[in-house]
Amino acid sequence: MPALTLDRLLASIGFGSRKEARALVRMGLVELDGEVLDDPFMEFASRPESIMVNGEDVPTVEKLYVMLHKPVDVECSHNPRDHQSVYSLLPDRFSAMGIQTVGRLDADSEGLLLLSNQGDFIHRVESPKKGCLKRYRVALAREFTDAQEKELLAGVMLKDERRPVLAREIVREEGSVVIAIGEGLYHQVRRMFAAVGNHVETLERISIGPLQLDATLGKGGWRFLSDAEIASLM
Ligand code: URA
Repeated sequence: MPALTLDRLLASIGFGSRKEARALVRMGLVELDGEVLDDPFMEFASRPESIMVNGEDVPTVEKLYVMLHKPVDVECSHNPRDHQSVYSLLPDRFSAMGIQTVGRLDADSEGLLLLSNQGDFIHRVESPKKGCLKRYRVALAREFTDAQEKELLAGVMLKDERRPVLAREIVREEGSVVIAIGEGLYHQVRRMFAAVGNHVETLERISIGPLQLDATLGKGGWRFLSDAEIASLM
């Protein structure tokens, strides 16, 4: 493995090419432990935990695992059509590091969204076979009847799908319903309620597997997942 030089380290955490990283160093914008680093080829025996770049304290992890509280009117796309992109809520360097959403939430939906640049993690959490249930809290336009609940638990056929999809759990709350599903099909929850004659007015994802949306994150806020949280999803 090539030595971990300062330019390599900066490039690996999204600060452009190695050449661009060297320019940052030469401009005196990189500090470690309060000292400006002026040698772009300085070698590290191991990754420091964080480094200051242009006044920002940046963790030096290469593997990104992020939880975001997605607001409505934000699109899970790098090329949004009608609204801002979810990636604009994160530091630009994360896009340079290859971050992707783990599944999607519609522009009209809000709540827990995971993002990562690790394909195995994304696949694991998205895969319906691995049993990562996603829970959504919905407000409905019409009364939610026992018959609708039964139908959803038994499985409903959605247009263009080959097999019925079913609710794995339904919990009624005051003024809302929480539904758990195993897949992540296009507009799945909205289409499931429409299939039984109801209509979803608002939709919030509250958990993925054992991981709940962090209540301290305001809409649009994000944080890194802890190692324990990552392990709990794998
Ligand atoms: N189901 C939907 O209908 N929309 C979402 O955003 C997520 C699940």
